[in-house]
This record gives sequence, structure tokens and C-alpha cells, in this order.
Amino acid sequence: MKMILLNPGPVTLSTKVREAMLGPDLCHREPEFAQLQAEIRRRLLDVYGLDKTDWASILLTGSGTAAVEAMLSSVVPRNGHVLVIENGTYGERMTKILQRYGMPHSRIEHTWLEAPDLSRIEQQLATTPEMTHVAVVHHETTSGRLNDLKALGECCRRYRVSLLVDAVSSFGAEELDFNELPIAAIAATANKCLHGVPGTCFAIASREALASAGNASRTVYLDLQAYLEQQDRHGTPFTQSVQTFYALAAALRELEDEGGWRTRRHSYLTRINAVRSHLRNLGIEPLLAEGLSSCVLHAFYLPPTLSYANLHDALKARGFVIYAGQSNLAQQIFRISMMGEITPSDIARLCAALTEAIRPN
Ligand SMILES: Cc1ncc(COP(=O)(O)O)c(C=O)c1O
Repeated sequence: MKMILLNPGPVTLSTKVREAMLGPDLCHREPEFAQLQAEIRRRLLDVYGLDKTDWASILLTGSGTAAVEAMLSSVVPRNGHVLVIENGTYGERMTKILQRYGMPHSRIEHTWLEAPDLSRIEQQLATTPEMTHVAVVHHETTSGRLNDLKALGECCRRYRVSLLVDAVSSFGAEELDFNELPIAAIAATANKCLHGVPGTCFAIASREALASAGNASRTVYLDLQAYLEQQDRHGTPFTQSVQTFYALAAALRELEDEGGWRTRRHSYLTRINAVRSHLRNLGIEPLLAEGLSSCVLHAFYLPPTLSYANLHDALKARGFVIYAGQSNLAQQIFRISMMGEITPSDIARLCAALTEAIRPN
């Protein structure tokens, strides 16, 4: 039985992406690899229509966290100070990274159900003149909330502070206005909204921000400047994951053929709205009110009579893998993500499977 992955990445692959991984063996020092890398770098900028004189996409081998860690440790200058907005696991992880590197930072904590509180953020920026960057998660996958970058960006501009965005679970399906927002860099991965496979992640950085960070990098392996210098010369500092590059190139071609991020957003929304209204008819309430979640993932309260494990297993037996809540939400919620190759008939089968699991007979 084919499994449809409704966890937030890795995703159910298209045939083209899967088959792309069977491409010819390739040495990462050969011109064919340089060509593949250049195509991916160009296509990543094309997703949001970015000009390569101002922006650079930088490819790394690793999962999404590697890109987030590379961004934080390479883009913030030695005398920088980062304000982290926490309203879920991934915001909290950014704080953990900064702590581990001993980088000056402050944090604004929220519960996992709260939106970023702009008045607290503004107050912090107003009273901490040494602040240089605000780090935020765009789509906080913990709850499914899409954090409002526009309002946050306006606030950052007033205090001449740049944004560092974890766009791991939004890049390719949600709006990211690189020209309006004061973005220094974003971090993302191949295996979520882009529909590639795990193993390749990337940052998109303002060339100016990276250059003015000076000798910022705190690590050898995750040094974005070193990657950028080499990749601009069609090289790579380290061995890259060639087969996952093949898959990402195929996935980016598919995204373009499909109509780009707006079309993808529309298909995710169509899918998740159908599931959300079906669940509502079954008496299952969403965690967040209408309009607050991303198009990528919605979280729902578990029915009182069904444990997560039982719901998960009943759906898996019918070909669908859902996702648990994390930590204190684990006993309360389940999450359904809409990334990857999912057809309207998969959604119809999913709704039937949910009915059977939640309302047997
Ligand atoms: C918003 C966000 N940031 C970071 C990560 C970490 O990515 P990875 O598990 O690929 O390291 C995830 C994973 O789901 C995520 O959703």
C-alpha cells in the first residue's frame, strides 16, 4: 500500500523527483555538478523572483536545522545582538543555537498558542540599542501558526534591525516579500514545501548583509561566506549530497511548471480546507482560529475518546501518516500537513479514513 505522508516533511515524492535520484554518478569537482548546483541556486532565487546581484542562495548538505544554524552563526557580526521571537519549538531552538555559540541574544517568550506580541517586541527594541537582528520562525510548525512577518518587519525597520527568518516549513508555499521586509537571510530545506528529499538545505542571504558581517562565522562546516565564495566560483568547500541535488533540481522544475509558490499555496489551501471542514463535521476542533494557520499544516484537538497513538495507527493502516503534537501538546493535538504529491482522491480517501477512525460504525 502506498503511504501518503501528512507529517511536515519528508513528503510523498512525485515520480519525477524519485527517479531523478537515479541520475548518473557524479563527482562534485566535475563541471556537470557545477551545472547542477548553478541551476538549483538560480531556481531557488526564481521562486521569489530575486535578483542575483542582491541575493545569494547558498546550498548546504544537512537538514533544515543546519541551514538555521548556518544563518545564525554566519550572518550576525561579532558585535551583533539577536532578539529571538519564541512561540514554539523552532523559535526556542534558535535560542538554543545562540546559547551554544555564546552569541549575545535576548528572547521574547510566548506560549505555543500565542502570536508574537508586537508591543513587547517594540519595547525590547526601543530599550536595547545594541540589537542588530530579530530572529523569527515564519511558519511555526509546532502549532501551524503563520507568524506575521509584515508587521514584524515594519517594527524592525523603525529600529534599523534586520530579520533572520526560519522559513524551513514555508519557503515555496507562503509569501516571503524579500523586497519589502528588512531580511538579512532566511533558512530553508529541500524536503518540505519544495517537495525534494531530505539532505539538502539552504540559506538565501542578502549579499550585502553577508559581506558586512565580516569574519562572522563561528564554525568551519556551516560558514555561509565560505560556501558562497566557492559556489559563486562554481565550486563547493565540501562534498555535497549529489543525489539529493538531483532530486531538488527536479522538484524546482516541477514547482515552476506547476505555476510557482502561489499555485502551490492554493493547492495546499484547497486540501487543508477540505480536511478542516470534514473534521469540523466530525466534531473535531482546530487548535487555532480560522485564518491564523499556514496553508501548510493545521493542528487539531484529539477527540476525548481517542488517543493519538490509536488515531495514528488507524490512519496508518489506511495509508496515511499523521503527526503528533510536541511536548505539552502531545496529549492534546494531532497535526496534518499538506505538502508533497497529494491528489484530490487522496483527500477524499483521507476524509473517509478519518470518519472510520473517529466515528467507527
Ligand atoms: C520551522 C522549522 N524549523 C526548523 C525545522 C528543523 O528541520 P530539520 O528537522 O530538517 O532539521 C523544522 C522541522 O520541521 C521546522 O518545521
